[in-house]
Amino acid sequence: MTRSNLPAWEQADPSVHASDPRAITFAEDFGIRPIPAVGPIDTTAICATPSNGFEQLWKAIEPETRTRANDIHLPIVVAYAERLCDAYPLADRELVLVAAILHDTGWAHVDESRIISEGFSGNWRKAAIRFEHETEGCTVARRVLPSLGYTVDFVEHVCDIIDGHDTRQVAYSLEDALVRDCDRLWRFDRAGITASSSWFGMPVSDYVDRLHREILPELITEAAHQMATADLNRAKALLRTDAIR
Ligand SMILES: [Fe+2]
Ligand SMILES: [Fe+2]
Repeated sequence: MTRSNLPAWEQADPSVHASDPRAITFAEDFGIRPIPAVGPIDTTAICATPSNGFEQLWKAIEPETRTRANDIHLPIVVAYAERLCDAYPLADRELVLVAAILHDTGWAHVDESRIISEGFSGNWRKAAIRFEHETEGCTVARRVLPSLGYTVDFVEHVCDIIDGHDTRQVAYSLEDALVRDCDRLWRFDRAGITASSSWFGMPVSDYVDRLHREILPELITEAAHQMATADLNRAKALLRTDAIR
């Protein structure tokens, strides 16, 4: 059951950036949406498959994990990223995972008092603080990756994904799409529902209704759709959202 009278978040506008040559190429290469998976899709609860590796990178960004629940958000997002890479083996796995690990580190370098007040209210998709955390995230990537042996080209590919991951409405590559999807998938897990409903100041039942109505349709890949649907059904049953509303 979903409530039809909830206020809606401002809709993503896919026409913004759609004329970028990278968006056009990606749309031509992956015309069927959601993008069908070619590998296995794991729809079990995400805690069954934690992510692996990248210990040095995790160590390097430890200070950045202390802001905005990044020490919960980032590992869960990366666990979803691994599943999406299994479902889309054509994607550059290293690029997806490194971009996913780093994508929100910029939150640690913006005015913390504005994260909730601007980033989770009104037109949060276009809040200045969201652009700032993307720019700062690129700065973190350029600071930590070279000393871990990553090439300049690789670092810039990572930054291409971090830059706009929240504020740009279209994906520019398969890797970009997978990072965007795993970042949204965390919202469907229990931990994401707990944190995000609190950040948005919303009852859990309203929040899960809006996930179903507004965020599920934004997912780009079929694998993410299936994972999100399974997570949402589990969370709604567990949290008794049909009764507690
Ligand atoms: Fe973000
Ligand atoms: Fe994120």
